[in-house]
Amino acid sequence: MVMVSEKPILPSHVKIVEMGPRDGLQNEKQPVSTEIKLELIKRLMNAGEKHIEATAFVSPKWVPQMADHHEIMKGLPDSDEVMFPVLTPNLKGFEGALAGGAKEVAVFAAASESFSQKNINCSIAESIERFKPVMEAAKENGVLVRGYVSCVLGCPFEGDIAPEKVAEVAKDLYDLGCYEISLGDTIGTGTPAKAQAMIKEVAKHVPINHLACHFHDTYGQALANLYACLELGVSTIDSSVAGIGGCPYAPGATGNVATEDVVYMLNGLGIETGIDLDKLVDAGVFISDALGRKPVSNAANAILSKRKNSK
Ligand code: HMG
Ligand code: MG
Repeated sequence: MVMVSEKPILPSHVKIVEMGPRDGLQNEKQPVSTEIKLELIKRLMNAGEKHIEATAFVSPKWVPQMADHHEIMKGLPDSDEVMFPVLTPNLKGFEGALAGGAKEVAVFAAASESFSQKNINCSIAESIERFKPVMEAAKENGVLVRGYVSCVLGCPFEGDIAPEKVAEVAKDLYDLGCYEISLGDTIGTGTPAKAQAMIKEVAKHVPINHLACHFHDTYGQALANLYACLELGVSTIDSSVAGIGGCPYAPGATGNVATEDVVYMLNGLGIETGIDLDKLVDAGVFISDALGRKPVSNAANAILSKRKNSK
């Protein structure tokens, strides 16, 4: 008789890195005020989120929605418990972030040459060179650096990306001193076996406890892909409240997997996140109302209809 295979050991705790205020809003064409962004951050904290990517020190000509990065830094609540990482593509961005009091920043590279050119206007190798002075300045100032690799499961311009290429860029960032490498399925085309194959390759070079999954949900595969990666030992997940977002340089890509959906799944698996799902749903309603749409989260919408029906 064929036996059911041993249950893989899932982590007991997952670190959620909230993308809503940055990845979630960066692609919004309608202006979103600094007040709304700061109120969203406050509500996410109130729901128990401890890692909230707050803004991006990128060129306002490239991403106008993040132009208020200095005001966002000024308005962030004082907290010893919550980290507010911000994107810094180069030394200029880092200096701005540091002046604003950032304790954590993130550099971002890609596993696809075409995406690297479109997103940050340089090759992958040039981007790694640009990050070196950022890493040095961060070290001198005691600032943590996260590293992103985009297009780990496919590129909008090149199609399939070899897991070996993802591993090479992830290793470069880790060797430079990034404490965590976030692996981005920028266009959400991945499927679970592909996601596992990519993680297995990257984990040959970067310890699995230093990897994060950053999956956009364009094809509705993100939760399945995340579960597949949890089975391999990944325990950090990037997600976006109400599923908001997309990348301006990845045509057609939708938001990150919704934080509400991730927390609902992890709750069901008995995996702790420290996040209060009801308060998180409220934060999602707040930003969805501000954007004039419904949350892009099945769990949030189910919880909202249940609340309505039980009145
Ligand atoms: P560039 O044009 O090659 O830069 O852009 P440059 O060094 O030649 O400078 C040109 C101008 O930009 C100059 O100003 C600089 O001062 C200014 P000017 O003299 O023309 O007035 N500049 C800056 N301004 C503000 N902040 C800075 C900065 N640097 C230069 N840091 C650059 C290169 C990287 C700046 C540009 O390409 C850029 O800002 N790209 C950002 C694109 C972006 O934000 N994409 C979305 C985030 S990544 C993402 O979403 C993926 C992720 O979620 C993971 C995943 O899903 O895969 C992380
Ligand atoms: Mg992203």
